Amino acid sequence: MAKYFMEMNGPLLGEVEISGSKNAVLPIMAAAILTDEKCEILEVPELRDVDVMCQLLRSVGAEVKCDYEIGSLEIIIKEILAEEAPLELVKKMRASNLLMGPLLAKTGRFKIALPGGCAIGARPIDLHLKGLHALGANIKISENYIEAQAERLVGAKIYLDFPSVGATENIMMAASLAEGVTILENAAEEPEIVDLANFLNKMGAKVKGAGTDTIKIEGVKSLHGAKHGVIPDRIETGTFMVAAAITRGDVLLKNVVSDHVKPIIAKLIECGVEVIDSDEGLRVRATNNELIAADIKTLPYPGFPTDMQSQFMALLATVNGPSVIIETVFENRYMHIEELNRMGAQIKIEGRSAVVSGGQKLHGAQVIATDLRAGAALVLAGLMAEGTTEIAEIYHIERGYADFVGKLTKLGANIRRVKA
Ligand code: UD1
Repeated sequence: MAKYFMEMNGPLLGEVEISGSKNAVLPIMAAAILTDEKCEILEVPELRDVDVMCQLLRSVGAEVKCDYEIGSLEIIIKEILAEEAPLELVKKMRASNLLMGPLLAKTGRFKIALPGGCAIGARPIDLHLKGLHALGANIKISENYIEAQAERLVGAKIYLDFPSVGATENIMMAASLAEGVTILENAAEEPEIVDLANFLNKMGAKVKGAGTDTIKIEGVKSLHGAKHGVIPDRIETGTFMVAAAITRGDVLLKNVVSDHVKPIIAKLIECGVEVIDSDEGLRVRATNNELIAADIKTLPYPGFPTDMQSQFMALLATVNGPSVIIETVFENRYMHIEELNRMGAQIKIEGRSAVVSGGQKLHGAQVIATDLRAGAALVLAGLMAEGTTEIAEIYHIERGYADFVGKLTKLGANIRRVKA
């Protein structure tokens, strides 16, 4: 299995182009199931998760043409040949559960293995199932599978106990082909939800209110093909912003939506980093500054994203002063702490909080990427660590960062991908 080897380097300097959003493209790909016409998706990032979603779509009968050179995907599903997502694929990616809503709406049934993906807490899918049940699905859960069936789907009023991103997306997709109106309350407000709603509306759906906590979906009889470019990845954006800050560098990020990274900008400014938003992009400069600590609490959008918690923790380990991080979205999302501590960080877990001593000089070590964002945090720490950092299980990182090594190298990082 491949590993990353890194050496400490000076400040990252230069420009980086941010790729299309992983969390936007995955539900948009799943939504292609809702029509038998061709869908064309642009700004597609070259990622393992996108490969897995291509395989999942092929397994239910899709013809998928993927051209990463130009970042385009063409999906056409003339006939659904199977309503079942194979276990070996579902195990690789939790977002496989995004097939549930579209399959149910298009064929009246689905059978899906219980989901896999990052090992960050229990991550149940009860809210997805409650929503689909409210639309008329009979759901049967066995040891390894979830099966659902519906004669027809009928719009309903659904309140989510927590604004789950995946549940909001599944319900939006299923309700688009249901009879009548669905009102989804306490819905997730993430930019990826808005991007999916825009795609569905291009397909002929009637979705209003995406990006607020109440989404209204007026069901239509059928949907048609559509062409859509996905939004830039706000977590990749945030990761490169922190990469600039942790190396005390100066980086211009291109292809970004600064509104989507407001909480990250605010926290970096609180730490003493300069962030300049211009027509060219977002410039993150920490060359002249003594950085200081800031506390963080993760929340659903527009709060501070849980997907940036580990990368910020790496930064906070290196700045002056202690800080407290509170993870409220996922339990057990602190597996990177043990690995960061092996690199010289001083971080303690106290209940759902992590206390970061700050001001540490990091050193290289052999560490393991336990999940996607934990892996990104280790790469960021490796940029600042004295000696060699060796990161194993990097397939987690490659699930969600397109050409991470290439982009970092262009900014001056010493990082190599070595195949075992
Ligand atoms: C999505 C993102 C992921 C991000 C997360 C939160 C994708 C492909 N992934 O994941 O990168 O970290 O949003 O911003 O878009 N929950 C339940 N029951 C459910 C569903 C969720 O209790 O039925 C809980 C989860 O266990 C978790 C919280 O709700 O504690 C948030 O999960 P959710 O918003 O659903 O995240 P995902 O859609 O899985």
